[in-house]
Amino acid sequence: MLSRVLCQVARYFNKMVPEVVFVLGAPGAGKGTQCSLISKEYDFVHLSAGDLLREERQRPGSEYGEMIEQKIRNGEIVPVEVTCSLLHKAMQKSGKTRFLIDGFPRNKDNLEGWNREMSDKTKLLFVLFFECSKELCTERCLGRGAAGSGRSDDNPESLHKRFNTYLKDTMPIIEYYDQKGLVRKINAEVAPNEVFKYVKNAFESSGIQIVN
Ligand code: C5P
Ligand code: MG
Repeated sequence: MLSRVLCQVARYFNKMVPEVVFVLGAPGAGKGTQCSLISKEYDFVHLSAGDLLREERQRPGSEYGEMIEQKIRNGEIVPVEVTCSLLHKAMQKSGKTRFLIDGFPRNKDNLEGWNREMSDKTKLLFVLFFECSKELCTERCLGRGAAGSGRSDDNPESLHKRFNTYLKDTMPIIEYYDQKGLVRKINAEVAPNEVFKYVKNAFESSGIQIVN
């Protein structure tokens, strides 16, 4: 009897631990597009590190606005203290417990900062990794820029830098999680609805159910 009650209490508290899925891939791999699709069908809140940084950049009186703009334009990574605190605040504000964290952790500083501040407070379920060639990703980002994304980094110079950062700083993070068996590799070179089928398989094989 007592053990059953204890078990229920443990399960209750376990449920309260926020669960996260990190979403990584090159710029233009389709992280944002897939996260939107996922959050429509699954009980996950989409938090994009890039979107949160762009929002913070626009916030009147932000002490980080200029630094963020400079980093974004140069395809460099903002110090984790800023990004992690934006993510943490957004998680708390949502009142939810399951999150897709899109575009994070992007480098060693991001990873170490998360592990310092958040890894004890959350449970990492897995890492979705969208694989897509540089050529196709570049084409998509430039197309997005031409279609009026309004992003200061969807231009050839910024993209070149973003790609270098991705190869040099983000790939080792993906490899780090891959060695832990946490990476779910997704072919992101096909149409969004096709990619989404692979994503669903990844969720299903991790025992995560569709809710909508
Ligand atoms: O993910 P997204 O393409 O929206 O990111 C745009 C830019 O935001 C990155 O190139 C980088 O400058 C910044 N960023 C960051 N740290 C992250 C995610 C994004 O500095 N974890
Ligand atoms: Mg994005």
